[in-house]
Amino acid sequence: MRDMTIKVAINGYGTIGKRVADAVSCQDDMEIIGVTKTRPSFGCDLAVRKGYPLYCTFDDADKISAFGEAGYDCKGGLKDLMAAADIVIDCSPGKLGAENKQKYQDAGVKWIFQGGEKHAMTGLSYTSCANHMQNMNAEGTRVVSCNTTGLSRTLVPLYEACGSLSVECTMIRRAADPGDSKKGPINAIKPVLKVPSHHGPDVMTVKPEININSLAVAVPTTIMHVHSIVATLPDGHGMTTESIIEMWKNQPRVIVMNGNETGITTTAEVMEFARDIGRTWGDLHEIFVWEDGVKLVDNNLYYFQAIHQESDVIPENIDAIRALMGTESDWKASVAKTDAAISALFD
Ligand SMILES: NC(=O)c1ccc[n+]([C@@H]2O[C@H](COP(=O)([O-])OP(=O)(O)OC[C@H]3O[C@@H](n4cnc5c(N)ncnc54)[C@H](OP(=O)(O)O)[C@@H]3O)[C@@H](O)[C@H]2O)c1
Repeated sequence: MRDMTIKVAINGYGTIGKRVADAVSCQDDMEIIGVTKTRPSFGCDLAVRKGYPLYCTFDDADKISAFGEAGYDCKGGLKDLMAAADIVIDCSPGKLGAENKQKYQDAGVKWIFQGGEKHAMTGLSYTSCANHMQNMNAEGTRVVSCNTTGLSRTLVPLYEACGSLSVECTMIRRAADPGDSKKGPINAIKPVLKVPSHHGPDVMTVKPEININSLAVAVPTTIMHVHSIVATLPDGHGMTTESIIEMWKNQPRVIVMNGNETGITTTAEVMEFARDIGRTWGDLHEIFVWEDGVKLVDNNLYYFQAIHQESDVIPENIDAIRALMGTESDWKASVAKTDAAISALFD
C-alpha cells in the first residue's frame, strides 16, 4: 500500500524555501524529502542542521561533486530529487519558472510556483480563502505574491459579504528583504512607473469578481509592506465599520488591533509584536489591520494593513499542497490544520 504522507521537495532553499520547508515538516500529512542549493554556501548548513536531505539544483556531475568537496553530503541532482517526490515547491528567484516547469512535467511531479512568476506561465493561481476548490487535483499552481495574498485576505471576505467590490489601493513596499544586500533604494522613495502596478490586478487571478487596481511605491525599509486601500461597496451593502472589523476578526490569518490602545502604530511595533509571538525568524503569517484606521464613509471603506512579505505566503503553500494532492477540499479545514501545526511548535 502507498505511504499516504505527501513527499515534498523544495527547489530553491532561500528566503521563502527555508520557511516553506519548516512549515511542511511540522504537518503530519507531509514530509520534506529534500531541498536544493545551487552551490555549497551558508544556507546548506541550515538544511543540514534541520535534517533535510541536500540536493544540487542542477544535474551536472561537477556541480554535484562541488558539495562533497566543501564537506556536504549531497544526495544528487534535481532529477534524483524529483524521482522521489510527489510535489515540488519551486522557491527559485522569479522568472525561472518556464524552464523549471518543464523539468517537473518531465518527471511527472506536481508543482507549485511563487508570486515572482506570472499567472500566464502557470495558468492557475492560489489563495486559500479565494479559490482552494478550483485548485483541487490540479497539476500545478502559483501561490500569489505576498502583496496579493494580503489583499485577498481582507478583500475576499468583504466581497463575499457584499456581492460586489471596486478597489483602488497603493502598495507601500519594502525596498529589500533583511538578508538582501543587492536591492534599494536606501535613501529615496521610488514610485513604480508601470501603472497600474501588477499587485491589485493579480488579485483577479484568484478572485476575478473583484474589480481592483493599484499603484506601488518602494520605500527604504526591509521589514514590511503597508497597503493603503479604498474599497467601494455597492449601494445597499448593509455593512458598518464595526461589522467589517468584526468580520475580519473572525477571518483566518488576519489580526485586527487598535494602534492607539496597543501602542502598535507603525510596522516597527508590528514586527516587534511578531518577534514576541516567537515564530522562527520573527515571522508574522497573518495580515495586520489597524482597527482605528478602518472607516466606512457612505460606500467607501478606507483602511491600512501591513504585510510581512517574507512569511504571509508560507502557510498558503501548505494549503496549496493539500488542494493539488486532493487531500482536503475544505479551505478552512486545511488552514486550521496548517496553522495549528505551526503554532504547536511555539506553544
Ligand atoms: N522574499 C519575499 O519577500 C517574497 C515574498 C513572496 C513571494 N516571493 C517569491 O518567492 C520566490 C523566491 O523568492 P525568495 O525571496 O525566496 O528568493 P531568494 O531568497 O533569492 O531565494 C531563491 C533561492 O533559489 C535558488 N536558486 C537560484 N537559481 C535557481 C534555479 N535555477 N532553480 C532553483 N533554485 C534556484 C537560490 O539558491 P542558492 O542560494 O543556492 O543560490 C536561492 O536560495 C520568488 O518567486 C519571489 O518573487 C518572495
